[in-house]
Amino acid sequence: MSMFRLVVRSVVEEADGVRGLLLTDPAGGDLPPWEPGAHLEVTLPSGAIRHYSLCGDPADRSTYRLGVLRERAGRGGSEEVHTRVGGGTVLGARGPFNRFPLVPADRYLFVAGGIGITPLLPMVHALPPGSWSLLYGGRSLAAMAYREELSALPGVTLVPQDTAGLLDLDAAFSGLPAGTAVYCCGPEGLLRAVRDRWSGPLHTERFGSAPAPRPGETAGSASDGSEGFEGPEGFEVELRRSGRTVHVAPGRTLLDAVREAVPGVAYSCEEGWCGTCETKVLAGTPEHHDSVLGEDERASGTTMMICVGRSRGTRLVLDL
Ligand code: FES
Repeated sequence: MSMFRLVVRSVVEEADGVRGLLLTDPAGGDLPPWEPGAHLEVTLPSGAIRHYSLCGDPADRSTYRLGVLRERAGRGGSEEVHTRVGGGTVLGARGPFNRFPLVPADRYLFVAGGIGITPLLPMVHALPPGSWSLLYGGRSLAAMAYREELSALPGVTLVPQDTAGLLDLDAAFSGLPAGTAVYCCGPEGLLRAVRDRWSGPLHTERFGSAPAPRPGETAGSASDGSEGFEGPEGFEVELRRSGRTVHVAPGRTLLDAVREAVPGVAYSCEEGWCGTCETKVLAGTPEHHDSVLGEDERASGTTMMICVGRSRGTRLVLDL
């Protein structure tokens, strides 16, 4: 998909630490269509590439709305948005892409943690009132973006941690009808807590820093050991199309090793959530650490996110 340009029409402080961007086509034309759950790949003026959920109205083809949390300990993209992007800034964009689509269901439960509210916002706007409920937790009310827009809707429970504590997931999931589609977006801890309580249809997207495992920490997390574990020496990766084999040492990511042999390999978030680095596995058993693939895709072992994934055995063969 080719890159296009967007201009920042305005900047809105949506909450403490959350900056909203309204983006338009520089020539005033219609923007590519999208559906709730979609995200946009944005190239910032520094050249950094980041992915942000679209959180505006899909029917408004003239404007994209993004909400960006300032993460001071992040990799610099959110700092750039908060300090160097303003009205008139031109950004590059690709997409929109949708790896988090709204599936048909009789009833929905949405669970948002912090900035994880952004992909869920257009979803709740798209659904008839009474068919869904939303639990939205944040650090404090002032830090919860879109709280006013949401509190006008029936079915929304806002839970600021400083005054109301953590989301009461036990109460939310007790007695939930089996066919309910559950959507959860937030940090890994929240996703895990929801997974622990719900075995029905679950759609997740992770936001915030965390889960990418540190290279070399992964051996113990392989579950069945059927092909052994990545040993203390790391593992070998054959890049079949390039005719190269690279070694992935325990302290190194698979993506890093691959980039040495294939400098143009596509990647973006390096945290296992954007899907850009998805690669076909031709042989060996991948060990997944991403939040992109579904259970069936993981179990099939035919594809993986090489930015965070590793090998369960001593050798992998990739279609690169
Ligand atoms: Fe985003 Fe790998 S680069 S999932």
